[in-house]
Amino acid sequence: MAATQTGLWKKHEFFEKNSIVLLIGTLIVVAIGGLIEIVPLFYLKSTVEKVEGMRPYTPLELAGRNIYIREGCYLCHSQMIRSMRDEVERYGHFSLAAESMYDHPFQWGSKRTGPDLARVGGKYSDEWHRDHLKDPKSVVPTSIMPSYAFLDRELDFRGIAADLKANRAIGVPYTDDMVESARADLLAQASPDSPGVEELQKRYPKAVARDFDGDPKRVTELDALIAYLQMLGTLVDFKLYDGKAQDNLR
Ligand code: HEC
Repeated sequence: MAATQTGLWKKHEFFEKNSIVLLIGTLIVVAIGGLIEIVPLFYLKSTVEKVEGMRPYTPLELAGRNIYIREGCYLCHSQMIRSMRDEVERYGHFSLAAESMYDHPFQWGSKRTGPDLARVGGKYSDEWHRDHLKDPKSVVPTSIMPSYAFLDRELDFRGIAADLKANRAIGVPYTDDMVESARADLLAQASPDSPGVEELQKRYPKAVARDFDGDPKRVTELDALIAYLQMLGTLVDFKLYDGKAQDNLR
């Protein structure tokens, strides 16, 4: 017993007395550990667990999302509810990876000057959003959010089909049919009485068609942004997952 210990000790002495050998030895050991962690990921098709209800954005929601990014809303708002009691009680079920699987780039954010928006859909009326975006203080007197009154201008959606295609190129499952009808779907979602609404909802389950900006004559940037805000967090039915959420909090 004593003899083998001295044997091993002697071998290790070689590493300890030669710093370069120790360095190379350390690198080899760390590399083995790294490979064991990383290599299996290459053999998984996806690391995101699928959840029921998720679908790609409708063209109008996608246009709204583009405005959200353009205006830098993510600088003050996160879209990522953490699995901690205070967050879940305030905002709802914690965010699932699958909920941002069609987000390129994702909008998790890293700062909350305003509240998290991951589940803001359906929390307020369209009218509230209109007033709030035009003049936040008119509905929340202490608000420090800036005014976005200029969003009542006409939406430029000439590039919407190309936008869907670009998203498809990086993995969002938009079909040819969706790309071809992008313009028609966008217009249908902003005009609830049009015959295209049924088609839209066939392609995009749970898509809500409304006159979001209260101006039926025009399709504005407000229409797109409010359509986007009103769908956030509404696609997944969390009654199916609530049991799990409670377990997590216990
Ligand atoms: C300078 C930081 C800032 C920016 C930029 C900002 N917000 Fe806000 N936002 C706030 C603050 C603070 C609040 C909380 C007070 C209020 O409701 O106005 C808020 C509240 C909100 C709410 C209500 C959330 C809730 O659950 O009550 C929505 C919706 C919202 N913002 C959307 C947006 C959108 C869309 C943009 C981009 C066009 C944006 N915000 C840009 C700071 C910001």
